[in-house]
Amino acid sequence: MFEIKSADYSVFVGDVLTKADELISKSYARCHKVILVDENSAKYCLPQIQGLASLKNAEVLQIQSGEEHKTLETTSRIWKHLSSNKLNRTALFVNVGGGVIIDMGGFASSTYKRGIDFINFPTTLLSQVDASIGGKLGIDFEGLKNEIGIFKNPKAVFVHTEFLQTLNERQVLSGFAEIIKHALIASKNYFNELQELNFENIEEFDNIIRQSIEIKNNIVLQDFEERSIRKALNFGHTIGHAIESEYLNRKNSLLHGEAIAIGMICETYLSYLSGFISMEDVMETANYINSVFTKVDLDSNNYHRLIELMQHDKKNISNGINFTLLERIGIAKVNQTCSVDQIIDALDFYKNH
Ligand SMILES: NC(=O)c1ccc[n+]([C@@H]2O[C@H](COP(=O)([O-])OP(=O)(O)OC[C@H]3O[C@@H](n4cnc5c(N)ncnc54)[C@H](O)[C@@H]3O)[C@@H](O)[C@H]2O)c1
Repeated sequence: MFEIKSADYSVFVGDVLTKADELISKSYARCHKVILVDENSAKYCLPQIQGLASLKNAEVLQIQSGEEHKTLETTSRIWKHLSSNKLNRTALFVNVGGGVIIDMGGFASSTYKRGIDFINFPTTLLSQVDASIGGKLGIDFEGLKNEIGIFKNPKAVFVHTEFLQTLNERQVLSGFAEIIKHALIASKNYFNELQELNFENIEEFDNIIRQSIEIKNNIVLQDFEERSIRKALNFGHTIGHAIESEYLNRKNSLLHGEAIAIGMICETYLSYLSGFISMEDVMETANYINSVFTKVDLDSNNYHRLIELMQHDKKNISNGINFTLLERIGIAKVNQTCSVDQIIDALDFYKNH
């Protein structure tokens, strides 16, 4: 098991259930405890969590899975449950699930009675390396992703990597896109290591998850509220989010990481057009990402719609479209702007490679 120290809590990675049991018994022995799950984390992960002596008598609140349920209505259901069961401020809220449970459960518990303690058991790769770290909590509102939310840290994060065994391959790869992003913005050596990775070797994978969490944690520790360096984590996300939104209502919609993978190729090319990274590094990055993810056939008739979506991105500061680019593999450059022509060239680069 690895322990990664964050601001005022730790992230434990590997075989972590005994550690979780110890910590909960020590700090929350007599407290009222509520576990939040969706139907999949209830089926695949809850039995192990309920096997912990410290959580044996915890109540379980189950909600429906899916981004479409990360809403004020579901949050209100959680608040009603806490209120009608008369939970006081010493209670403990336990999130067991993917990024949707982690974001919404953290938000609901942090706003109930001005905040009760919560801990995370992330159960998807995306939530283990990304959503459960860094204290961004929230819900979608009026069709806008993460429109309502706060920054608040959990009391602990337990990354039980064995939970990933029931996750389907598409979901694993979606989380893996964020791992690639961590390498591209922070470490060329880590990027080289990823290119050698054997997905079947679980122990090797634990080590990869640990390194990704360390990279995200180091960045968040320097800039919790995303005023400067934390923006590095948005690499691939300006174009990626636009593509994700554009594909949202289609039959062949894309998972978050699948869209970010395209975004990372385009934004690496934009880094080249902006005079930073070499063409050799662009090709190394694009070839690797294309070897991991299935190619998506972007329709050039939609480029203008994508650019409109980018113009409405909440990360923009003034009139320009804001990007995090790469100075080279392993070094990010935040607060860059690119022209519409450059963005179209970058979309074409993805299409043709
Ligand atoms: N707060 C942050 O910093 C941050 C960062 C990245 C993403 N996010 C958020 O995370 C969400 C996406 O997270 P996600 O990809 O984990 O989605 P998700 O929570 O919808 O989980 C994906 C699917 O996997 C299922 N699942 C969960 N654990 C499983 C397991 N062990 N075995 C089998 N199935 C399992 C879920 O029920 C769901 O159907 C988005 O809402 C995004 O905004 C937040």
